[in-house]
Amino acid sequence: MTRERFPALLSLQPGGKPWTRFPGSTKVRQTLRKAPVLRHLERAARVVYGRFLARRPDKLRFHGAFASFDEAMANVRGGMLAGYDHDSVSYVSRHVMKQVPLWDYPILYWLGRLAPEISRVVDAGGHTGVKYRAFGRYLDLDRLDWIVYDLPAQVRAGRALVRPEDRTLSFVERIEDAPVADLLLASGLMPYLEGSLDDLARRLRALPRYVLLNKVVTRDGPTVVTLENFGVAEVPYQVRNEGEVPAALEALGYEIIDSWIIDSLGHVIPTHPELGRCVCRGYVARLREASRSAQSLENRGHDVTLG
Ligand SMILES: C[S@@+](CC[C@H](N)C(=O)[O-])C[C@H]1O[C@@H](n2cnc3c(N)ncnc32)[C@H](O)[C@@H]1O
Repeated sequence: MTRERFPALLSLQPGGKPWTRFPGSTKVRQTLRKAPVLRHLERAARVVYGRFLARRPDKLRFHGAFASFDEAMANVRGGMLAGYDHDSVSYVSRHVMKQVPLWDYPILYWLGRLAPEISRVVDAGGHTGVKYRAFGRYLDLDRLDWIVYDLPAQVRAGRALVRPEDRTLSFVERIEDAPVADLLLASGLMPYLEGSLDDLARRLRALPRYVLLNKVVTRDGPTVVTLENFGVAEVPYQVRNEGEVPAALEALGYEIIDSWIIDSLGHVIPTHPELGRCVCRGYVARLREASRSAQSLENRGHDVTLG
């Protein structure tokens, strides 16, 4: 499987044209990096070029660097829809998401490996059920109750797309309405989620035994929010401090049992190259026995079963 099969997520605009990037061949850049003075000059040139690019955000996949989600929303360009929750946004990249790119394989591996222990999945940020359909070739979905939790526009589109063979797929607009599950999947949600992972997980009726996260975009520095260009909309995109998600899992009582980096999805915010390259990560976490027991005690007396 090659990068070229997933252009909309990588280097090409939805129309097929390449996004604008810092010019210069890899060889030129490697030569520049050898001398410290040249390295500083190259960095300064990149920043100046980044600010120059900021004048034409329509040519960029990402632009701007804001301190918060709200600030990013306030900076959406006039004439563009703001955020993900719009009917026309649910079409953006849907065909790409329905595929199984290389970076989905760790998730597929863990879903397969955990299959004997799980019977219900909450797929947060599951869009219109794209991964349910994509993974259908590899997993026995008939024995897995699969609940997509997403924003109302995606849920509306997803419900309208349900096929007779999607026997175990359902949708909720509020994660609180999802039944108790064994596994929380959040593939590609974290850049678009306004809040934190712990806030999201604590809204579930009970913590699931497993959490699988993919495409968590991180950086070595404070969290920044940029704007992603969807053609019809601009969507806040969080590049979280790299410690945030592991700390949230720890605070929730999980231990990380596997993690990975998706090199090919790393990228720079072209208008703010000084912020460095974002690193795209995945995690598998299991609820510690002590946390399971504590939750079980807490739920005693309530009509709740543990995931
Ligand atoms: C890039 S898509 C991920 C689709 C799919 N899970 C995948 O891995 O390809 C991000 C999804 O997150 C959803 N999303 C954004 N904010 C959300 C929120 N607050 N609650 C639930 N879903 C949200 C978007 O509507 C969108 O469907």
